[in-house]
Amino acid sequence: MDKLRVLLTRDQIAAKIAALAAQITVDFAGEAVVLIGVLKGAAIFLADLAREIQLDASFDFIAVSSYGVGRQHSGEVRLVKDVDSSMGGKNVILVEDILDTGLTLAYVRKLLRAHQPKSIKIAALLDKPSRRIEPIRADYVGFQIPDEFVVGYGLDFAERYRNLPDICILETPSDGA
Ligand code: IMP
Ligand code: MG
Repeated sequence: MDKLRVLLTRDQIAAKIAALAAQITVDFAGEAVVLIGVLKGAAIFLADLAREIQLDASFDFIAVSSYGVGRQHSGEVRLVKDVDSSMGGKNVILVEDILDTGLTLAYVRKLLRAHQPKSIKIAALLDKPSRRIEPIRADYVGFQIPDEFVVGYGLDFAERYRNLPDICILETPSDGA
């Protein structure tokens, strides 16, 4: 059995997302934005963030897979699903569950820059700055967290726990069997 310890409650998450959305609403006042979620982890964050943003907003999704064993990132990222339409001239906000090594978002941002968007920003619910390999920072950060493996609110361990409403530290990861 995995042992879970609550790090961030659903109420803390909801309050933070309302604040992030209010900031985005102010920053892009009078403009349209495209929220691009990085599947699958960001799906829940995007759904909640989008409903708090008071702007003309549309969604798109991208899926990537990173190679590695366990928590070891090989540094190689592969595109599994591209955006559906061009981001040329758009205000793009990349929505990600967690910024860890930064390899994933660095790759995705480079890919989208090729579309020549009007602007490109990053919204990350969680940030583990101590793990960074790529020097990348998010424009909108929910919570900076210590170097612990977390699950819930979209984040998984071997595809499990994404549906937990709170964000929890996975204290004794099992082998996922
Ligand atoms: P990065 O490329 O190392 O920044 O990886 C970011 C991705 O790694 C996130 O989108 C998550 O899918 C995954 N990840 C990083 N840390 C955690 C964690 O603590 N729990 C669950 N997934 C994580
Ligand atoms: Mg992810």
